[in-house]
Amino acid sequence: MTSPTFVEVAELADVPPETPVRVEVDGTPICLVNVDGTIHAVHDVCTHAMQSLADGWVDHDRLECPRHGAVFSVITGEVLTPPASAPLPTFGVAVKDGRILVDPTPNRAHPLYDN
Ligand code: FES
Repeated sequence: MTSPTFVEVAELADVPPETPVRVEVDGTPICLVNVDGTIHAVHDVCTHAMQSLADGWVDHDRLECPRHGAVFSVITGEVLTPPASAPLPTFGVAVKDGRILVDPTPNRAHPLYDN
């Protein structure tokens, strides 16, 4: 088992609550969400039809896709509301000295996307 390799992706101040922020690590699009001061990271591509979720809306730990309204948990990646049925990959996050770092190794495969 290999150790996670964290990559700096943003400043903590760049990810305020209720505002999804898209970053990329090695070509993988990742959506950062601040939930009560804790940063969570999920794959940025909706598992329904390839929409960027950073264009959507956040309600606490719920991320809504702007295209057809699927809702995902940004903590677990699970689908909370259809039409999406497959969960999002999630990523490990660390915060150090006001900087956000992400381990780009997903916890599960993305069903519609290679990364
Ligand atoms: S593309 Fe996200 S719900 Fe359809």
